[in-house]
Amino acid sequence: MPDADIVEILFSEADIKARIQELGRAISQDYEGRTPYLVGVLRGVVPFMADLVRAITIPLTLDFIAISRYGPSTRTRGVVHFIKDLDETIAGRHVLFVEDVVDTGLTLNYILSILRPRYPATLQACTLLDRSVRRLVDDLPIAYKGFDLPDQFVVGYGLDYRQRYRNLPYVGILDPAVYLADYEE
Ligand code: PRP
Repeated sequence: MPDADIVEILFSEADIKARIQELGRAISQDYEGRTPYLVGVLRGVVPFMADLVRAITIPLTLDFIAISRYGPSTRTRGVVHFIKDLDETIAGRHVLFVEDVVDTGLTLNYILSILRPRYPATLQACTLLDRSVRRLVDDLPIAYKGFDLPDQFVVGYGLDYRQRYRNLPYVGILDPAVYLADYEE
């Protein structure tokens, strides 16, 4: 039974589960013989990361960063400040950066620009959702992606609206009445 605020489920729990199994298989094959260092940026990535690591069958290590954004609006992207950095050094390691969604690409681009000078052996990205219609940065090293996302306001499976809906097991379109009501407050 979908949440009452969701007008359409775009990717069901079963869709997501099946796709993550495929991603896990691909990553396990590609990184065979190496130990990938998976890095996620809090908070939206948590459900995806939790399922992805369990779909990967080779040894790996897992770490998170937390960031805050600078800018006049919450939609301003690009310059971020690390609130929590990686716990280990990544020089010579095979870093796979994991995101729940890439929109403009500014966040991913900025974080990679910070990690690159730390001399990882390889640095690639994996995102569950790719909303490339909003992209402002080209040539991002997205080696793995789950689904292409249309230009819709979606929540669930980690994605939030005002910190809500992250726990929905699917990705769905949020009823515009929810956020329009907030803007009228
Ligand atoms: C989301 C997502 C990425 C970023 C992508 O985070 O997790 O970090 O937006 O957007 P971009 O490609 O336009 O830069 P959000 O700011 O929603 O924070 P959250 O992970 O805490 O939900």
